[in-house]
This record gives sequence, structure tokens and C-alpha cells, in this order.
Amino acid sequence: MRVLITGGAGFVGRRFCKIFLEKGYDVVCVDNLMKECGGKHPQEGWYQFNPLDFHNFVFYQEDCRNFFVQCANEYFDEVYHLAAVVGGRMMIEKNPLAIAEDLSIDSAYWQWAKQNKIPKTIYFSSSAAYPIKLQEKDNFRLLKEDDINFSQTIGVPDLTYGWAKLTGEFLAHLAYERHDLKSVIYRPFSGYGEDQDWSYPVPSLCLRALELQNKQQKLFKVWGSGYQMRDFIHIDDCVRGILITKDKINNGRAINLSTGILTSFVHFSKVVIKLLGYHDPIISGMSEMPEGVFARGGDVALQKELGFSPSINLEEGIGRILLYFKNML
Ligand SMILES: NC(=O)c1ccc[n+]([C@@H]2O[C@H](COP(=O)([O-])OP(=O)(O)OC[C@H]3O[C@@H](n4cnc5c(N)ncnc54)[C@H](O)[C@@H]3O)[C@@H](O)[C@H]2O)c1
Repeated sequence: MRVLITGGAGFVGRRFCKIFLEKGYDVVCVDNLMKECGGKHPQEGWYQFNPLDFHNFVFYQEDCRNFFVQCANEYFDEVYHLAAVVGGRMMIEKNPLAIAEDLSIDSAYWQWAKQNKIPKTIYFSSSAAYPIKLQEKDNFRLLKEDDINFSQTIGVPDLTYGWAKLTGEFLAHLAYERHDLKSVIYRPFSGYGEDQDWSYPVPSLCLRALELQNKQQKLFKVWGSGYQMRDFIHIDDCVRGILITKDKINNGRAINLSTGILTSFVHFSKVVIKLLGYHDPIISGMSEMPEGVFARGGDVALQKELGFSPSINLEEGIGRILLYFKNML
């Protein structure tokens, strides 16, 4: 097997590199280590393994759009198309035009996939592609895959990040219908894990809780009102879910990667604080910081039907991160 992983030096991509290198696949990882994203150069050391120990690993530090031009006729059995300008909530809200670059990255990808007749694409969309009107304080529910339906109406997604992912999904549909290009689309909800970039809410909350514990302070601040809710899923579960389901879909159908459990940031903070064993914290929101939609959680019926259920609960996931930081700091 020869696999291409665009954005492969990022948080999710590093995990796929590890799994496929250990299986003996030829892994080509293309990543430009874009500023404000979660990419890490292989020489910086990757969590739990060193990709440079593997002779079957090739790394190109470059924009995947250039790679598509230079490697116009290379063969790959599968492509994991992860490259995207992502960033945290701050980036999505404060720099939407920078994120719109994802439109260009995906457009270049699908044209190259058509030209190269890529047998199978694993495309990373996002829960941000769902209509925001289903995520409001007085009108929210778990989001179902069919809430995005290109042959009926589609709703307004979350800023440029959501628009770009929605467009990438539409391109996957066209690629299948018009050019017989096989793909499966994933919509991860709030993926988190040990080596995630510190600008993301989960590592940043865990780090701040550790700092406060050391300083014996009581006031713990969370972004927005703190009552906004997300569906936190450990990234190892996401990756496992993909490996279990990816061969079962070829027509560009989307699958949620979610737990179906909505957790507020206030509740999340309480779990962190409890695990650290300190008492009577005062948790307060920071109204000046963005909070995004009120409630974003994903229905789990389709994942279940395809044979996947997440297995890492929030306490275990947070425990792993706290341990990681304790060992590192
Ligand atoms: N982690 C999650 O919970 C989550 C949730 C929803 C969607 N996703 C999607 O999964 C994918 C991976 O996310 P992640 O969490 O690993 O983010 P990440 O920022 O860690 O990884 C993205 C990688 O893409 C690279 N990149 C950006 N532009 C590029 C370009 N033009 N050419 C080559 N590489 C480029 C970045 O340098 C980075 O290493 C993204 O498409 C993201 O939108 C992730």
C-alpha cells in the first residue's frame, strides 16, 4: 500500500502516519507546517514514535498544491486529505479570510485526484459544516448526517471554515457522480488529545488548571459564557472509527465522529479540576472571548450501524492529557 497524507504532520495526520508506517505501508506525508496550525516537523519529535526511524516514510515540507503540480502522475492507493488551515476558535472568528484558503486547497486536491484517478479519498470535513441554525440556544439537537443534503436545502455553516468544508464535501459528491472517484467523508466534532496544539480549548484548559493548581489560585476562567456545549471525542477514537468504517463507504457519504454527549465548558472545567484534586474553584466566563455556536453535538446512529462506538470517556481522555503535561512540564 502506498498512501499520501496531506497535512500529515498535523495533530490527526501524525496518528495516521504512525499506524501506516507500523503496518509497513509506504507513507508520503506532505505538509507546509503552516503558521497557526498544529503541524510539527518530524525532526521535532512526534508523540509516541519517531517517523524518521522508518525507511518507508517520506516527508515533503511543502504546500500540497505545489506537490500536486510536481507529482502530477504519482500513484497512491489511498489519500488522507487532511491539509487545511484550521486554527482554534479565535482564528475561525478573527481571521476568516485566511481560512478561506481551504477552498483553494480542496479545489486543487479534487482536480489532482481526478487527473491521477485516485482509487480512494478519505476526506476530512468538519462538524462546522452543519447549519448553525440547528445549534442555537433555543433551537439545538444532535446533528444528523442528513442535515446536510445537497439535493435539497442546505443551511448556513460556521463561517469560512464551515463553508470551505461544505464545499469540499460537494466536490467529493461531484467527483463520485461525474468521475467515479471513490471517497468517504468524515465530520469530526471536537477532537482532542495529548499532543494537540496548545491554542485549542482542551489542552489550554488543562494547562491553565495545572498552573492554577501550582499557584493555589481559585479563579478559573473559560471562554465565552462557559455554558456553550461541545461533543468532545478523543482523537484516538476518531482514528479508530475511521479505520473501522472507511472501506464501507465509497460514494462520498459523510459520517459523524462524535460521542452524542454535549458537555459545557463549565462542566469540562469541573472534571479537570476534580481530577487534579483541588477544591472550591470559582469558574467564570470571559465574555470578551469568542464562544462560537451554543451547542454542537453529533448523532451517533450511523457510526454505530457501521460498527464504531467511541470508547474513551471524558475523564479518561482528560486524565491522559494531564499525565502528558505532568510528564512534560
Ligand atoms: N482535530 C479535530 O478535532 C478536527 C475536527 C474537525 C475537522 N478536522 C479536520 O481534520 C483535518 C486535520 O486537522 P488537525 O486537527 O490535524 O489540524 P492541524 O492543524 O494539526 O493539521 C492540519 C495540517 O495541515 C497543514 N496544512 C495547512 N495548509 C496546508 C497546505 N496548503 N499544504 C500542506 N499542508 C497544509 C498544516 O501545516 C497542519 O499540519 C483538517 O482538515 C481539519 O479541518 C479536525
